[in-house]
Amino acid sequence: MTKEKNIKQKQFYGRRTGRPLRKAQKDALKTLLPALDIPESTLENAAALVPSSLFADTPNNIWMEIGFGDGIHLKGIMNQNPDTAFIGVEPFVNGMASFLKSLDKTDEGRVRVYMDDAMQVVRSLSDESLERLYILNPDPWHKTRHHKRRIVNPNNLGHFARVLKPGAQMVLSTDVPYLAEWMLTHTINHPAFTWTAGSANDWKTPPKNWITTTYETKGAKGADRMCYLIFEKILANRKK
Ligand SMILES: C[S@@+](CC[C@H](N)C(=O)[O-])C[C@H]1O[C@@H](n2cnc3c(N)ncnc32)[C@H](O)[C@@H]1O
Repeated sequence: MTKEKNIKQKQFYGRRTGRPLRKAQKDALKTLLPALDIPESTLENAAALVPSSLFADTPNNIWMEIGFGDGIHLKGIMNQNPDTAFIGVEPFVNGMASFLKSLDKTDEGRVRVYMDDAMQVVRSLSDESLERLYILNPDPWHKTRHHKRRIVNPNNLGHFARVLKPGAQMVLSTDVPYLAEWMLTHTINHPAFTWTAGSANDWKTPPKNWITTTYETKGAKGADRMCYLIFEKILANRKK
């Protein structure tokens, strides 16, 4: 079986646990994770999971955030978009616990989470099922021999293109200049994406109503080097 054919193959290289969890985080994991987790059984077949089926009221508008860290951004966009449903993926247990702890009771019906490799979820999602995808400050994997671990890569871009609806946005950010260049080059070269920036201002300044992520806040020194790369999914035959 080739790697690509193995839908359940996990490709996560980061750390899964950090400091000991506080009681409230442990409680959130214990009570909310079983309720909001995307079941492994729905991730067994490529392109078979219709994400609206994960929610009681079959929403039309579903956004996904990959590698949400402690979930400050995901919770923020949930607050800004009360009629949208969300899928959040984060393998780091402490991050997942913090996000779950931040949820209000009313949020629970419109978010589903997965605490492992996001590509397993992406490969399972049905075609053109997401309205938006965020990948904010993905791990840069500095060493050349580790570049293949970068989550924005030509192979994964094919999966992102498949699951996004035409016109949907893919929002990437980083403060690492050569990762910005890598993500930009690979995404521009992909036939399904077009870069929305009209001027440098568009990628150097945060988009309107931007929720600053924890990584972005902590890297205060790097903050003025942040790049916000917004792409739109197009039909392949529309790109020049
Ligand atoms: C540098 S942190 C950024 C966290 C957050 N987006 C922020 O900006 O504060 C990168 C995050 O991506 C997550 N991550 C790495 N590989 C992943 C994968 N294959 N699937 C989902 N998340 C992943 C890591 O666990 C980590 O939390």
